[in-house]
Amino acid sequence: MRWTTAFLFFGAVATVLSTEEVSDESEPLLHVLARPSTFNAGERRAIFCQGRNLPHAINWYSPSGNIVGERSSTNNRVYVERKVDNSMVMVPLIIHEVKVEDSGSWTCKAGEYNETIDIVVGIKVKFHNRQTTMEGDEGKNAKLTCEAKGYPLPVIQWYKDGKLLTDKTSPSKYAMKKKGDIYVLEVRALTYEDIGEYLCKVTQKVLSYYTDKTIILSVKHAPVLVGTYKTVEEYAAFNATKNITCSAIANPLPSYQWYRRRKNFDTEIPEEDTIFTAEDGTSSTLMLRMDKEEAFGEYKCKVSNSKGSETVIFDVSLGERPTSPDGVNLIAANSTHLTFNVSCAACPIQQSDDTSPDPKNLTVIGFDFELTEVRDDYPPDWDKKYPFEMLIEESEDLVFAVGPLPNSTVFHARVRTRNLAGESDWLEVQPDPATTSRAVTLSLCLAIIVAAFIATTY
Ligand SMILES: *[C@@H]1O[C@H](CO)[C@@H](O)[C@H](O)[C@H]1NC(C)=O
Ligand SMILES: *[C@@H]1O[C@H](CO)[C@@H](O)[C@H](O)[C@H]1NC(C)=O
Ligand SMILES: *[C@@H]1O[C@H](CO)[C@@H](O)[C@H](O)[C@H]1NC(C)=O
Ligand SMILES: *[C@@H]1O[C@H](CO)[C@@H](O)[C@H](O)[C@H]1NC(C)=O
Ligand SMILES: *[C@@H]1O[C@H](CO)[C@@H](O)[C@H](O)[C@H]1NC(C)=O
Ligand SMILES: *[C@@H]1O[C@H](CO)[C@@H](O)[C@H](O)[C@H]1NC(C)=O
Ligand SMILES: *[C@@H]1O[C@H](CO)[C@@H](O)[C@H](O)[C@H]1NC(C)=O
Repeated sequence: MRWTTAFLFFGAVATVLSTEEVSDESEPLLHVLARPSTFNAGERRAIFCQGRNLPHAINWYSPSGNIVGERSSTNNRVYVERKVDNSMVMVPLIIHEVKVEDSGSWTCKAGEYNETIDIVVGIKVKFHNRQTTMEGDEGKNAKLTCEAKGYPLPVIQWYKDGKLLTDKTSPSKYAMKKKGDIYVLEVRALTYEDIGEYLCKVTQKVLSYYTDKTIILSVKHAPVLVGTYKTVEEYAAFNATKNITCSAIANPLPSYQWYRRRKNFDTEIPEEDTIFTAEDGTSSTLMLRMDKEEAFGEYKCKVSNSKGSETVIFDVSLGERPTSPDGVNLIAANSTHLTFNVSCAACPIQQSDDTSPDPKNLTVIGFDFELTEVRDDYPPDWDKKYPFEMLIEESEDLVFAVGPLPNSTVFHARVRTRNLAGESDWLEVQPDPATTSRAVTLSLCLAIIVAAFIATTY
């Protein structure tokens, strides 16, 4: 009941307020039915001016102060019309093909009554092609262009791979210039590091408008080695197969040649079944069988393309495989991961100082884990394994969380040590570890059980 009354009361107030605006019909009135506006060039627009009880005729004045005439054969782009609806006079200002020059203050006026609206006419920047590619040459400059014709003048920002380039970014590398409507980003002294996606971002704040254009820059350059060393120390155990890999980036795609180097004399290794070069040209692997004393020594990799070449020397020495870990314990489990603590007292772990390695006791670089599901009455099927290569960060605990793994599963698990010369024998994890069913960790389970135990005891 009370609610209905309140509703009726407010409804009545609202009605009174809305009728009040047009109530006093004897007062003179002049009103433009538009707010300050932003138009796009080329549009057709009508701006209404209405008036009542005015002693003078209503006229529209252009920004230059001239009266806008009615439509005629010579005046057919900007003109006014006149309509009378009861006591109300309507004078729409009609503009066809709005132009930038139409920007300014337009006034509707009748005697001392007047109202002015400000019009901004803009031209939005449009790109015919929002993505282009460009190729430059190492050492030369590249000019990335962005033709941005618009009004009001757009603000242009350049980005490389999502990062804004400013005047301060690197004045020796980037120069931003403008010539008419053409904005240029000059990238100087190209290297492979300049390869990437450049974005020309155009903002016309007054028009609440923005657009962009992407230029994908590639650079023809000589091979650049992945890894900065010109000489790489490698170790291999006797009788083992040893893979040595040479990686480079280059454009055009490089070719790889391998050489056996003895007393600084190189003999090319024929491309038999011992050389595997990736189809994308990013690396080449030479597979060696270290079954003879002579197999040890220096190998050279040469990467070349039309722009130049680079070489790396691999020095393969005899090294010993590591010993197996002393022990391994499961210390935590959840539905996706098993966490193991490996103990390996005699393992030489990476030291921060750069002491030269002892080939008989090479630094341990990590541990390999393999897990396979336990199936009753079957031996472990290592062909269906989950392999994990865990690397050791400098002087950290030998604690490794391996996963993702399936939930609620019991596994056979084994671990071995890895160094530059190869791997140790496997050490089996005892007892068989298992993942949990829910996203609850083993330690949390224990905590709950302990808490429950304490609660029941006291
Ligand atoms: C426009 O109207 C204002 C009052 O709203 C008045 O002060 C001003 O003189 C008028 N301008 C012209 C040009 O009539
Ligand atoms: C190397 O392998 C061959 C054949 O597989 C074997 O006869 C030889 O004993 C091995 N040598 C060493 C040092 O392990
Ligand atoms: C060496 O590389 C070949 C080809 O990529 C691969 O089949 C082989 O397993 C690798 N051997 C070692 C010991 O990594
Ligand atoms: C891992 O085991 C070693 C002993 O082998 C022990 O000192 C260390 O505290 C254990 N780490 C964790 C996180 O349990
Ligand atoms: C290898 O080095 C570690 C420490 O770096 C040492 O504890 C271990 O005894 C060494 N093993 C051998 C066989 O020299
Ligand atoms: C456990 O794994 C099964 C099979 O992948 C899946 O259907 C189920 O949702 C998982 N349960 C939980 C609690 O993650
Ligand atoms: C399981 O534990 C691992 C390692 O602690 C963690 O990264 C992972 O997010 C955990 N998963 C769930 C489902 O809690």
